Amino acid sequence: MSEVIAIYPGSFDPLTNGHVDIIQRGSRLFHRIVVGVLINLEKAPLFTVPERVAIAREVFRGWDNVEVDTFDGLLVEYARSKHAGVIVRGLRAVSDFEYELQMALMNRRLSPDVETVFMMPAEPYTYVSSRLVKEVVALGGSVHGLVPGIVEDRLREKKLARETLRA
Ligand SMILES: Nc1ncnc2c1ncn2[C@@H]1O[C@H](COP(=O)(O)OP(=O)(O)OP(=O)(O)O)[C@@H](O)[C@H]1O
Ligand SMILES: [Mg+2]
Repeated sequence: MSEVIAIYPGSFDPLTNGHVDIIQRGSRLFHRIVVGVLINLEKAPLFTVPERVAIAREVFRGWDNVEVDTFDGLLVEYARSKHAGVIVRGLRAVSDFEYELQMALMNRRLSPDVETVFMMPAEPYTYVSSRLVKEVVALGGSVHGLVPGIVEDRLREKKLARETLRA
């Protein structure tokens, strides 16, 4: 059998332990998993794309079959360019389902030979999102245990930088 390569696309702004959990599961299931950080020019991100890539590379340093990369444009085109036959997505709750179903079916229409595979995270991460993590940190709450240690550090640095700018 040839290598099964999977793409895990997202904005990862920032990487959470929910993402890490899905990547770990994927790395056990597929020969290679490529974490694809979406270059999305419309959103106002907290972390730049290079910062997000650096964080993910640091977290997965030494994981031989996890690659961290960036992409823009059509996901299925990116998958093709990476010779990936699988798109991995995480499902947290019913609320994720509708959008994910639409995306999966549209991507199948665009590229019938790429299969979308959904994975559920460990229960403690089922409510974790990047958006919620950013909100909690901005309001002074702790996200310890919900994000990798390096993300906690970077979030603290960002918050200090913003407070200094405002002062
Ligand atoms: N805690 C989690 N458990 C499982 N899957 C997750 C989790 N958080 C995100 N995902 C999945 O990871 C993929 C990439 O998600 P994305 O980068 O949008 O993260 P997010 O946490 O949803 O960020 P945002 O809050 O900015 O939308 C999606 O398939 C998303 O459903
Ligand atoms: Mg999301």
